Amino acid sequence: MKQNQPKIKVISSGKYIPETLITNEDLEKLVETSNEWIMTRTGIQTRHKAVNELTSDMAYKAALNAIERVNYDKNKIDLIIMATITGDQMTPSTSNFVQAKLGLEHHVMSFDINAACTGFVYGLEVASALLQTKRFRSALIIGGETLTKIIDYTDRNTCVLFGDGAGAMIIEPSDDPHDTAYFFNAAKGDLNDTLTVKKFIQMDGKKVYQFAVGAMEGAIVKILNESHLKIEDIDMVIPHQANERIIQSVSKSTGIPIEKFMLNLSEYGNTSAASIPITISEYFDRKDVKGKKILLVGFGGGFTWGSSILQL
Ligand code: UT7
Repeated sequence: MKQNQPKIKVISSGKYIPETLITNEDLEKLVETSNEWIMTRTGIQTRHKAVNELTSDMAYKAALNAIERVNYDKNKIDLIIMATITGDQMTPSTSNFVQAKLGLEHHVMSFDINAACTGFVYGLEVASALLQTKRFRSALIIGGETLTKIIDYTDRNTCVLFGDGAGAMIIEPSDDPHDTAYFFNAAKGDLNDTLTVKKFIQMDGKKVYQFAVGAMEGAIVKILNESHLKIEDIDMVIPHQANERIIQSVSKSTGIPIEKFMLNLSEYGNTSAASIPITISEYFDRKDVKGKKILLVGFGGGFTWGSSILQL
């Protein structure tokens, strides 16, 4: 084991999903596609759309959900990291807006990061490292996106895949060795626009698919090796929710049974940086999660990819 793995106490998790639904049948009216194609190629049935809501509104509601789940004293929070590619505006940061909406007027360090769909795992590693300095006592990490504002609804290659939402987690520093957290995050710069947002999301789906399967498999193997844990020690794998077939391929290539992967993409589609924390929050909804070990694994534009093992 590496000497300086951070120790963090996972306090709570929350989510917010906007009400408005976009069904496969709705998309059939916009582009040449079918419910059958979308279901069999992606596993997605519906996705949600933020109407008159900003990324910071959803992020604030996800944070509030995490705070209220455990009746947390929000005034303890002194670090906010927001992972997003669809911030409200260039500046101030969306995390600053969340800070204001939460009414946190005391000293807080607050900033956004962009690591596309891996953003939440990146943010968690950054927050954990900062907590390790003992100069912060509580970190709020949020992944939130309004991807529907950067979707070209005439492009069937992308418009069926993405949706809006936000997920949040609160962590504190710990001295308990049981709270050791493991991280692996990586990037490989791409100058070929394989997965890019200029005005709208554009991608070479096949290339992204191939990258995703290899990156996720590698990230799972790497984090299990680093932690000296076996997959049997992990209670739930929480993958980035991009495409059910990608997760099935990773299940096959790693030998991890598909039942061990928590899936909700049929309902939400791909919510980029929000997908992992939304899924963690839904894991928290199961009442018996204290002491469970979860393995997070994601990939995204950049390219970026990463994994983490946390004890709840
Ligand atoms: O968070 C990361 C974001 N990106 C991803 O995760 C994307 C990863 N890639 C994928 O999930 C898959 O590659 C897609 C779902 C995007 C596409 O699935 P595929 O099995 O790789 O399909 P394909 O790109 O090879 O396309 C097969 C056919 C093509 O038609 P032709 O050329 O064979 O005539 C496409 O034009 O399916 C066509 N097609 C569609 N047909 C109906 C592409 N999109 C659609 C659609 N409805 N929405």
